[in-house]
Amino acid sequence: MEIVIVPAERIGDLAAGAVVALLARKPDAVLGLATGSSPLSTYAALAERHRRGEVSFARARGFLLDEYVGLAAGHPERYREVVRRELEDSVDFAADAVQGPDGLATDVPAACADYEARIAAEGGVDLQLLGIGTDGHIGFNEPGSSLASRTRIKTLTPQTRADNARFFASPDEVPHHVLTQGLGTIREARHLVLVATGAAKAEAVHAMAEGPVSAFCPASVLQLHPHATVLVDEAAAGRLV
Ligand code: F6R
Repeated sequence: MEIVIVPAERIGDLAAGAVVALLARKPDAVLGLATGSSPLSTYAALAERHRRGEVSFARARGFLLDEYVGLAAGHPERYREVVRRELEDSVDFAADAVQGPDGLATDVPAACADYEARIAAEGGVDLQLLGIGTDGHIGFNEPGSSLASRTRIKTLTPQTRADNARFFASPDEVPHHVLTQGLGTIREARHLVLVATGAAKAEAVHAMAEGPVSAFCPASVLQLHPHATVLVDEAAAGRLV
């Protein structure tokens, strides 16, 4: 795992640089797209670099990392909508090039298996963007998740629901369930790029990088990955020894 400690305002550019370099050598690359606050500066930097003519997504494909269960189509916090708003609307992805797990599926196991099959059919993810939860989750693989898990339904912990309440009008509106790529799924991406800023992430970053590889800190699976890049600011790096 490569850990890069830089000022927060440089992180988006650095992560975007990895995506731009990938698309330059592989224009039809498959991108793994996270949501939450962490990737927003990366998406803004990608939009700017696209505006300047430095990168095209015309042949790229994208797969969302996760999706809330039960949010209606068009709900502004549905991750499919968030990625459309924060990235797709500003770049040139082809129609239907970005897919997400179906959080409204009636047959959830079938929808999760179908999502895995769709990722595999596109050749797997080349570069997966990740954030990290304050409890060490990646995707929504909460502590206790199997290190070999695949896309499935998960229950959010009270801590994660509280962390995400800022995106909703009231804490009660945060869904209890999500569909998330599993840790086994995420580990198959060829390059993992995890972004974390702020002191609230310091303990999780320490556990991820310097603790044991354990389901108690799902992000610790990055220690097993041959190509994992972690971009953190000084505050998020504050507990690293
Ligand atoms: C979102 C996701 C989550 C977030 C994590 C951190 O798609 O998979 O793992 O990356 O909850 O969220 P932020 O970036 O909002 O602190």
